[in-house]
Amino acid sequence: MCGIVGYIGSDYAKEKVIDGLRRLEYRGYDSAGIAMPVSGAIQITKAVGELKNLEAKISDPAFDAPVAIGHTRWATHGKPTELNAHPHGNMDNSIAIVHNGIIENYQELREWLAEEYGIKFKSETDSEVIAHLIGLYYDGDLLDAVNKAVEEMRGAYAVAAMAAAEPDKIVAVRKDAPLVVGAGNGFNMIASDVPALLKYTRDVYFIENNETVVLTKDSVVIYDENGNEVQRDIQAVEWKADAADKAEYDHFMLKEIHEQPKVIQETLLNRLNPDDSIKLDDISMTKEDIDNFNKIYIIACGTAYHAGLVGKMVIEKMTKIPVEIDVASEFRYRDTFIDDKTLFIAISQSGETLDTLAALRDAKDRGARILSVVNAVGSSIARESHDVFYTLAGPEVAVASTKAYTTQLICMYLIGLYMGSTKGTIDKEYYDFMLKELKDLPGKVDRILLSEEKYKKLAERYHFNDHVFFIGRGLDSGVSYEGSLKLKEISYIHSFAIAAGELKHGTIALMDKDSLVVALATQDRLYEKMVSNIVEVQARGAHIIGLAKEGKTEIEKTSDEVIYIPQCADEVAPVLAVIPLQIFAYYVALEKGCNIDKPKNLAKSVTVE
Ligand code: F6R
Repeated sequence: MCGIVGYIGSDYAKEKVIDGLRRLEYRGYDSAGIAMPVSGAIQITKAVGELKNLEAKISDPAFDAPVAIGHTRWATHGKPTELNAHPHGNMDNSIAIVHNGIIENYQELREWLAEEYGIKFKSETDSEVIAHLIGLYYDGDLLDAVNKAVEEMRGAYAVAAMAAAEPDKIVAVRKDAPLVVGAGNGFNMIASDVPALLKYTRDVYFIENNETVVLTKDSVVIYDENGNEVQRDIQAVEWKADAADKAEYDHFMLKEIHEQPKVIQETLLNRLNPDDSIKLDDISMTKEDIDNFNKIYIIACGTAYHAGLVGKMVIEKMTKIPVEIDVASEFRYRDTFIDDKTLFIAISQSGETLDTLAALRDAKDRGARILSVVNAVGSSIARESHDVFYTLAGPEVAVASTKAYTTQLICMYLIGLYMGSTKGTIDKEYYDFMLKELKDLPGKVDRILLSEEKYKKLAERYHFNDHVFFIGRGLDSGVSYEGSLKLKEISYIHSFAIAAGELKHGTIALMDKDSLVVALATQDRLYEKMVSNIVEVQARGAHIIGLAKEGKTEIEKTSDEVIYIPQCADEVAPVLAVIPLQIFAYYVALEKGCNIDKPKNLAKSVTVE
């Protein structure tokens, strides 16, 4: 979604702000803007399109100021135009703000401000009301004016504000939208996400809901909603600055696909004690706690939900506790059976997905124990959970999730094994077997990556197909959903995933010689049934790319092409099976000339409903 970056220090703020915004580009944007005090007034500059358009407008040395707030916008209320881009000013631009989120009562506020105070609005956005509210309450104290403005606002927001009369400070406030302060020597920064700060500092303060923060070049003061000063420890972010660079790869997505052996290894090995027992970070889940659970809900969106599909089957098998999985936007509006015997597992890369966060809050209010599997350290979902289990994937920049997914899968196995072994529902032999299988995964993923050229050739051959179906049974059906999502989101090809056994109940009507079917058959128990399903679609003339374990060659008789993955236990096959599908999607999108890292209409972090 939108990105916020602010800088206050002694030297050229615009360079830092533009650089920070560039590092948030992956969130998606259609326009950008920057505000800085120039000769006693706030100068607001905006441009539609890429950041370089904005840069060109502020290249004049007259724009050299030691403080600035900037924004990349992804249009929600109002078209992507210069007027709608942020920052927004009040009537005389003595106040400027940037905003992420949605002000739900903005229509009401607009009418009230226009009727009572004659305020004329310049944009169609919900955000502009914030600048006017702050302007209305401003009496020489920006902090006070922001606090008063916030009392009028309903919705979700991270706001950074500046006042022409106080050019030595930035005031920011948040509710349900991320905000992080980067602390430096002689400068401070504010941003909506950590990667914007990494080039300048790794010392951060995560701002909590309903807190306000005042930044000067030498100080950061955080206040709670009652105006009391809050003491917060600086947190050192371990992500390396170059973790958010493309290195030698053409796209972040390809780089992140290739990082998977390393991040799988880190996610796994950091959780094993020397005796191979599992330590779930700081999670203290005792046998008594686990025995108390009589059901588990796994809730997530998109790719994280697909990791949950695998998690459901694995955790259910290992713990013998019924596990339900749902997408957060559906779960929130269902009548669910949550109580203090419920374990609620939220999965999220960004830790900011609004639907997942809202579902989590609801479950927490109803007594569930909340365990989140999150990648972004200190994110809202992480902070609001009882326990957090981090996927150690590092920053994921490409909009299409790859390494977050495979590390989420590793977390599902570790949670299942930990709970099952503590509860006594799996024996030592199975535990040791699974651990060995998990430890072998990084090497096997490496081997799959060596065949990149083959998947590229498949993409060259099949990228003309307008309809692609992904089918599988058992754990493979979960991976089918993920393979299909990867393809459609970056190549814009219509693709559809379905449990293979369901085909004959309707969808098979679509199969003909123009269909491409990617058939996953990695589950030993279901292999023969899967081969029968492939025969059914083959009979309708469809082209078939089969995917099976090495040695399972029967599938060659019914497929046009076969992708083999190394032998492994059925449980861990999803981690291997998804890699060729990610690479296939990548090269199909490349063939079609798509914007791979930033697909149209998509944003990395979905902080609206
Ligand atoms: C797809 C993708 C999205 C996200 C979804 C949830 O490649 O990245 O489907 O998985 O928006 O996001 P998080 O995991 O941040 O909650």
